[in-house]
Amino acid sequence: MFIALLVLGGVVGAAYVFRQVVVKGKRCTSEAKLHGRTVIVTGSNTGIGKTTAVDLAKRGARVILACRNRQRGEAALAHVKQESGSNQVVFMQLDLGNLKSVRSFAETFLRNEPRLDILINNAGIYMAGRTEDGLGMMFGINHVGHFLLTNLLMDRLKECEASRVVNVSSLGHNFGKIDFECLNKHKALGLGTSFMEVLQAYCNSKLCNVLFTHELAKRLQGTKVTCYSLHPGSINSELARNTNSLFQLLLKPITALFFKNTVQGCQTTLHCALQEGIEHLSGRYFSNCTVQEVYSKAKDDAAAKKLWEISERMCGLA
Ligand SMILES: NC(=O)c1ccc[n+]([C@@H]2O[C@H](COP(=O)([O-])OP(=O)(O)OC[C@H]3O[C@@H](n4cnc5c(N)ncnc54)[C@H](OP(=O)(O)O)[C@@H]3O)[C@@H](O)[C@H]2O)c1
Ligand SMILES: *[C@@H]1O[C@H](CO)[C@@H](O)[C@H](O)[C@H]1NC(C)=O
Ligand SMILES: *[C@@H]1O[C@H](CO)[C@@H](O)[C@H](O)[C@H]1NC(C)=O
Repeated sequence: MFIALLVLGGVVGAAYVFRQVVVKGKRCTSEAKLHGRTVIVTGSNTGIGKTTAVDLAKRGARVILACRNRQRGEAALAHVKQESGSNQVVFMQLDLGNLKSVRSFAETFLRNEPRLDILINNAGIYMAGRTEDGLGMMFGINHVGHFLLTNLLMDRLKECEASRVVNVSSLGHNFGKIDFECLNKHKALGLGTSFMEVLQAYCNSKLCNVLFTHELAKRLQGTKVTCYSLHPGSINSELARNTNSLFQLLLKPITALFFKNTVQGCQTTLHCALQEGIEHLSGRYFSNCTVQEVYSKAKDDAAAKKLWEISERMCGLA
């Protein structure tokens, strides 16, 4: 009995030390205050989007929670207000899987909000299927929806001078590839539904985020708007909720032990949104609150431009 307790204590202790030393990662050290500034966080009803929103609200920002589900969005609104002690928090409905919804969100926002200082493209999904517009689910939500949103809000960002766009990508982008033929034919970056095919399509959509940041930075040269993409770390969130239940069961102990919690998981997003003096790194990719080199496929000028043009056509901007 005593031995068993000792072993258990040892394991828990080791896990705690491991989490504190290895898993935790760097914190955003910026003390920036955001009174009078407006921020949008997409997908902020749960996961790292929600903890990002709480932090920004605490700093005094007016925070727009852009979420697709009204009930979940309003529950998050109450939570963020309570945690931050701020009443400058607003819920606005946005479904990134529906381009009409993106347009109507942008219209409402532009009509009601005079400023936009920080746009955080955080929402993401891990799931096979199609969006309402017939695009590949992950390509459509993780990439095209945000592409349209960012473009529709661009003038407001430019009006606010030193504003920023932050794209939550993933380490998975390293395994991504962009098959333009598949994109033209099927409006998707992968079609299968097997475990590996879904994983691959997720990585492809996340490579789009990095490439877009690369192209956007170029298009923003000469303005004061800067943009960043990032890997938040491996986080114990709801991202795997649409995978099969056996996989989720196996994943549970791993995420509990080896993954960051959502407060740790939002630090790199905060760093990209707030850290003073990183403007010269516009277009770059961050992880662990540090700028990182990417493979050449993630800064491929020609691919980034081509993807931009296809995306424009897909959401009727061109
Ligand atoms: N968790 C990780 O380990 C990890 C690693 C690398 C990158 N990331 C990235 O981090 C970001 C945040 O993920 P998370 O881990 O916090 O996951 P999460 O807990 O699943 O949160 C994702 C958020 O995105 C929202 N969303 C999904 N589809 C949407 C749509 N069509 N329109 C609007 N919002 C939508 C979800 O809303 P609903 O609740 O309504 O579904 C939810 O609020 C994602 O971009 C993800 O790819 C996560
Ligand atoms: C993050 O950076 C800190 C400080 O530079 C370092 O000690 C830590 O090991 C890094 N963590 C990861 C996961 O890279
Ligand atoms: C973020 O990614 C979206 C979709 O990939 C893209 O439309 C947008 O331009 C990107 N913004 C930045 C700053 O990279």
